[in-house]
Amino acid sequence: MNPDTLSTPSQYTWAGRFSEPMSDLVKRYTASVDFDKRMWRQDIRGSLAHAKMLARQGIISAEDLADIQRGMVQIVGEIESGAFEWSLDLEDVHLNIEKRLTTLVGDAGKRLHTGRSRNDQVATDIRLYLRDSIDDIQILLGQFQTALLDLAEREATTPMPGFTHLQVAQPITFGHHVLAWYEMTRRDAERFAGVRKRTNRLPLGAAALAGTTYPIDREFVAAELGFEGICENSLDAVSDRDFAIEFCAASALLMMHVSRMSEELVLWMNPRFGFVRIADRFCTGSSIMPQKKNPDVPELARGKTGRVYGHLTALLTLMKGQPLAYNKDNQEDKEPLFDAVDTVTDTLRIFADMIPGVTARPENLRDALRQGFATATDLADYLVRKGLPFRDAHEAVGLAVRRAEERGVDLPQLPLAELQSFSPMIGEDVFAVLTVEGSLDSRNHIGGTAPEQVRAAIARARQRA
Ligand code: ARG
Repeated sequence: MNPDTLSTPSQYTWAGRFSEPMSDLVKRYTASVDFDKRMWRQDIRGSLAHAKMLARQGIISAEDLADIQRGMVQIVGEIESGAFEWSLDLEDVHLNIEKRLTTLVGDAGKRLHTGRSRNDQVATDIRLYLRDSIDDIQILLGQFQTALLDLAEREATTPMPGFTHLQVAQPITFGHHVLAWYEMTRRDAERFAGVRKRTNRLPLGAAALAGTTYPIDREFVAAELGFEGICENSLDAVSDRDFAIEFCAASALLMMHVSRMSEELVLWMNPRFGFVRIADRFCTGSSIMPQKKNPDVPELARGKTGRVYGHLTALLTLMKGQPLAYNKDNQEDKEPLFDAVDTVTDTLRIFADMIPGVTARPENLRDALRQGFATATDLADYLVRKGLPFRDAHEAVGLAVRRAEERGVDLPQLPLAELQSFSPMIGEDVFAVLTVEGSLDSRNHIGGTAPEQVRAAIARARQRA
């Protein structure tokens, strides 16, 4: 390393132990302030709770506490107004704030770090930050779910083809399809609630790794910060990031669900399907092809799913094989975690906004149903009710479908006499079964597609909300 690139030693924090300055490259490589400063509110909240406990326990004086509180109020103002000067020399959010506090209030600022370490401090900050983020995400998920329920309600009776293998399978209601999306988000919300519970524990008090010699009161700090409990082992408290990994796993699953909805919206918007319209403000045009209207928002959501999967893999890999206790590797937890938070938050916000702008196109949905022999299973079930074994019914209907296909018509357009050539059990009443409405209404049990069930499911969902 060229000595010219060595900066003046600014490591006021540990200068006593060191005999040569850090190079600019090492400084830039090891610093995290550029990305961890977003946790400044949590850092200050944690410090204030810690200071309050120190004073209650007689470890610092009441005057020191008052000074710390006064200094922090000023720092909050400075950060909010943009006047605060973040310095790379001070490595991270913790040292930046502590240094400023000391400049403002003197020795009281230097006493704040008594009985704690940046290791338990950062673990506390991340947990607080993530807890706040999960709370925001739950609110957005709730708004997204309301939008889905409203759409399901608007289209509770609208028939559309249900697919398996992306081939027309059976008639379903549009509302029923949207309720499937809703169910996915319900489990997502449950998962985030579980992650929140395990995130919501206090590491402070673990200090660097072994605990501290001061008579601290961890339960008090936990209560001050709204934690449900404390991390019970100091080594584990400062080192594990499993809660962040879990958050990314829950986020990856949520995004996977969003990507599936997105894919369907992209397909459905294609004129070959023409199943839905999406409000123009969620689409963009082409710079060269004047006729284009592209479903950019669902496409991007589909794409951003990969990025969240990447963050999950990054954090799993970061943690793999790490010996106890804290290792600097863990500083790398923040960027993937923050980006996962941002991606999920933005995606939910935009989807909650977009879903009310989705409208079904009932005439196209019905056309698609007509082309796919969607009521063939209903005909087979009809024959079973008349006494034919299911396998025989299946075969008879298969032959009928082939005939209809040859003639270029749908099953209900075949004359009765012709239908009877496939099974003498077929009577005049078959046409009621072959209609789309008959097919839908007959699947009238909990979880089924009948409009009555769709409405009941929506009512249950609204009740829970
Ligand atoms: N910026 C560090 C991090 O994000 C804070 C903890 C540093 N601790 C240490 N012993 N170097 O993990």
